[in-house]
Amino acid sequence: MMNEHRGYIMKCIIIGAGGHGRIILEILRLNDIEVAGFIDDSKELYDTAIDGVKVLGNFEKVDGLIKKGVEKGIVAVADGRVRRMLVERSAEKGLTLIGAKHPQCYVSDNARISETAQLCVNCVVNPHAVIGDYTIINSNAVVEHNSNIGKYCHISPSATVLGFATVGDFSQVGAGATVLENRIVGENVFVGAGAVITKDTENNKVYVGIPAKPAEK
Ligand SMILES: CC(C)(COP(=O)(O)OP(=O)(O)OC[C@H]1O[C@@H](n2cnc3c(N)ncnc32)[C@H](O)[C@@H]1OP(=O)(O)O)[C@@H](O)C(=O)NCCC(=O)NCCS
Repeated sequence: MMNEHRGYIMKCIIIGAGGHGRIILEILRLNDIEVAGFIDDSKELYDTAIDGVKVLGNFEKVDGLIKKGVEKGIVAVADGRVRRMLVERSAEKGLTLIGAKHPQCYVSDNARISETAQLCVNCVVNPHAVIGDYTIINSNAVVEHNSNIGKYCHISPSATVLGFATVGDFSQVGAGATVLENRIVGENVFVGAGAVITKDTENNKVYVGIPAKPAEK
């Protein structure tokens, strides 16, 4: 597909045709990247189109697409562990993975952002923040100065991570949640929507509420 106004600079496939995949499609188009199609395991989506872009099939299709000149891929799945599995499968196929940056987000020149991070509309990343590989900073999220977000994390829409705070690998900060300054969210933690992290967390737990506490099972 050719955009009327701009010349495309590379051909890319999106792995994951769910909600986040649609957001990534829009960001890639705004960056003049041609999207050759979606790859997804859900058979019911095959041969359907999302905003004019076809769901081509599952990973079996990737070899043929590379032969046809697709150079790049992006894994657009919200769950960090699923994202890692798909990143590994992409690497096995020899697909080079890219990140995405919405033109309307603010990222400090003094922040350190992985090339594979995904930065959505209106997010803010302030000076000396670090964003790890394959991490999503979703719409309207704020990552404050000197905070450290690990790899395969997801800072959900309108979540805030305050200065010098840490979010460990594979952790998700839910929509509208806040991690107070200097606090450490461990690895593989899910911070529920609207929660406020006032104390460092353990690993591998779900935290909810204000102040956030481990969710009862
Ligand atoms: C915390 C969360 C992960 C729990 O999900 P779940 O395990 O499916 O939990 P359930 O919906 O079954 O709810 C279990 C209990 O926790 C409560 N609960 C759920 N989410 C809560 C939250 N964010 N804060 C406080 N309590 C919450 C429910 O009211 C329910 O309480 P009850 O047992 O007294 O009725 C989820 O609700 C959540 O907050 N997800 C964040 C979603 C998000 O931000 N997505 C971003 C997409 S881009």
